[in-house]
Amino acid sequence: MAENQLISTIKYVAATKPAFFLSEIIPYLDKPLPVDQVFSIISPKLSDWGLTAIKSKGDFEIVRTPPPQKYLMSREELERQQAFFTERTIPAPLAQGIEKYIAKKVGKDWNDPVIIERLRRAIVSQKDDYWKPSHKRSLQYIKGYSVLGYLAYHFPVYFIQTEHLLLKLAHDGLLKKGMTILDVGTGPGVVPLAIADFYSRLDAAEATIYSVERSEEHIEAFTYLRDTLVPKGGRVSIKPPIKADIRSQDIPRLPEKIDLVIFSNVLNELADATMESRADIVTHIAGNLAPDGSILIVEPADEENATRMRSLTIALHNKGLSVYCPCSFIWGSTCTAPRCWSFETAPAIRLSQLMETLAHCEDSYRYVNTDIKYSYAILRKDGMRKEDFRVPAGSKYLRLSKLHLHVGKRINVAALKMSGELGDARSHVFKICDGNAKTPVYAVLPSYHITPENDLITSAPYGSVLELRNVLVRYNKAHDAYNLLVSRNTHIHPLPVGKPSSLKHNNKKHFKNPG
Ligand SMILES: C[S@@+](CC[C@H](N)C(=O)[O-])C[C@H]1O[C@@H](n2cnc3c(N)ncnc32)[C@H](O)[C@@H]1O
Repeated sequence: MAENQLISTIKYVAATKPAFFLSEIIPYLDKPLPVDQVFSIISPKLSDWGLTAIKSKGDFEIVRTPPPQKYLMSREELERQQAFFTERTIPAPLAQGIEKYIAKKVGKDWNDPVIIERLRRAIVSQKDDYWKPSHKRSLQYIKGYSVLGYLAYHFPVYFIQTEHLLLKLAHDGLLKKGMTILDVGTGPGVVPLAIADFYSRLDAAEATIYSVERSEEHIEAFTYLRDTLVPKGGRVSIKPPIKADIRSQDIPRLPEKIDLVIFSNVLNELADATMESRADIVTHIAGNLAPDGSILIVEPADEENATRMRSLTIALHNKGLSVYCPCSFIWGSTCTAPRCWSFETAPAIRLSQLMETLAHCEDSYRYVNTDIKYSYAILRKDGMRKEDFRVPAGSKYLRLSKLHLHVGKRINVAALKMSGELGDARSHVFKICDGNAKTPVYAVLPSYHITPENDLITSAPYGSVLELRNVLVRYNKAHDAYNLLVSRNTHIHPLPVGKPSSLKHNNKKHFKNPG
């Protein structure tokens, strides 16, 4: 009871004064306590209340914690990042580090024909396992070669993919000047090493990176690459990975107040986990997220993993996290993500020397992995969203859930572009979504219909909110999907996009249909 009174008094005073001493509180308590005791009761809660304590001559001054500084890239920093992305290849020291690690592990040159053949076998067996039904998969990374195969085949693409995602975070102001980052299921440290590389082109940003991984072999590779490539005492500090199972309720030594939690290509490896238990793993770890922190989930773009990832996003939304991007529920109601196969793309990377050597054989295509395609979501606790557009009441857009009533008719819709190019040079195809559709919907633009008024559908970035005026509704029976034919009479415009809002997430109030 005394504690409750103390807490409510502190909260009240903090709301009315920007700074105060704990000794000022004591006269208001029914049972006065020494300052030190007051401090020990409230100190674990201070950061949640947005307060900081400063020790001062036997007392504590309580002040409002200044909002963390966003890291905004300067023009020079942006140019350096762009120069990196133009190269489309992993940095040379990293490529050499991987080759040296392979040589160290196998006790021969990395390009010894016997070693190259073993790496090929490891890659093929890993891919075979990946394409098994998820409950039959057995990826454990216990054998050394499974990790060496991962380094040769998966690492380069996932490394550059992570850098693209970091650029998105930076553009959106989701990187802070100093950050605590947790990478869950880090493997050989793809994400931490990509962060260190991205930050090496920033002037003043700092990050402390923690990670969780259960495979000894991955941890060994990660530690080698970290020690070889990341300077000690620099602006990025990569802590030794925590060896643990991410399904555990009690992962040791997790940092508190994490600014960014990343799950990159890991949740799909929890073969027998239900959607609910995957969501529980994310929310459990998100318990340590800072109030203004972000969760980034990335999964492969194949249909099974991408659609599951989208369902997981909705499950997490239903558990109280808000979707920052790429989804935006523009009609106000939360979607159920039925069959939502949506993914982002980036330019293919160039072959590393190692991959080129692996591909120097008959079935070369089996060893070449250069396409960047990924399904991702950023979630938050504070309700902030990237796109704030909501369909205004009384507007004349048709909800995508009503398309079945308008087959053969011309209509107007408001929707997000939710894919890169799914068609070809003759007929451009893009997935679109307004958060209502029960059946997948695609905008289809035959190339001979392209005009300056409609080609925004090809150039708009993934996740943009667009207005499509005068599109013809067609039902595609073979795929149980609707196509909206974009013709030369169609006009496509960006829709007004507000600033990210920080409204508290509240399913009932916040997502009331305005229209
Ligand atoms: C496909 S790798 C992804 C590595 C890295 N995040 C990336 O994007 O390249 C998945 C990693 O998650 C780890 N992992 C899978 N299940 C795990 C679990 N239950 N606990 C801890 N780590 C796990 C695997 O050992 C592996 O290193």
